[in-house]
Amino acid sequence: MLLMKDILDEKDKCLREKSLEVTFPLTKEDKKTVQDIIEFLTNSQIDELAKKYDLRPGMGLAAIQLGIKKRYFVIVHEYEDGKFDNYVIFNPKLVSNSEEIIYVGEGEGCLSVNREVCGIVPRYARVTVEGYDLDGNKIRIRAREELAVAFQHELDHLDGILFTDKIDPKNPYKNKDLYREI
Ligand code: NI
Repeated sequence: MLLMKDILDEKDKCLREKSLEVTFPLTKEDKKTVQDIIEFLTNSQIDELAKKYDLRPGMGLAAIQLGIKKRYFVIVHEYEDGKFDNYVIFNPKLVSNSEEIIYVGEGEGCLSVNREVCGIVPRYARVTVEGYDLDGNKIRIRAREELAVAFQHELDHLDGILFTDKIDPKNPYKNKDLYREI
């Protein structure tokens, strides 16, 4: 099973690389990795298990955060108390977005960023992402609010971008009033 030590820290240059398109059928390793990530993210959002395995809560993880330079990520979204939806997408692309911009008021987090980072990360309030599922079938996912933020955060990972890059260190709350806080 995956543990925190398996996740690359922001200091690792690998996280700055652009991940490569995935080809189908998937390898056994990639399928296993997806299952491991789902388990990790779900456990991390269940207090008791997070404590037991010493996990920091996270809702998304891109393959590159495990040192796998492939364009895919997993999001486990707690849409209701104790109820989770899994999203697994390969070669994802943002195909449309709202004009409205939001940001997470308490700040975004990342399992690769092991420090508190304050500031505004502007994100589209709604996005549509297209890509492929585990079997190589084309899929389209519409996301809004915190789920939309998660998709944009993970998409950035595939291009070597971290949320901290999007915060102006001299003025972390720049343009705050132009966006809606969630
Ligand atoms: Ni992240």
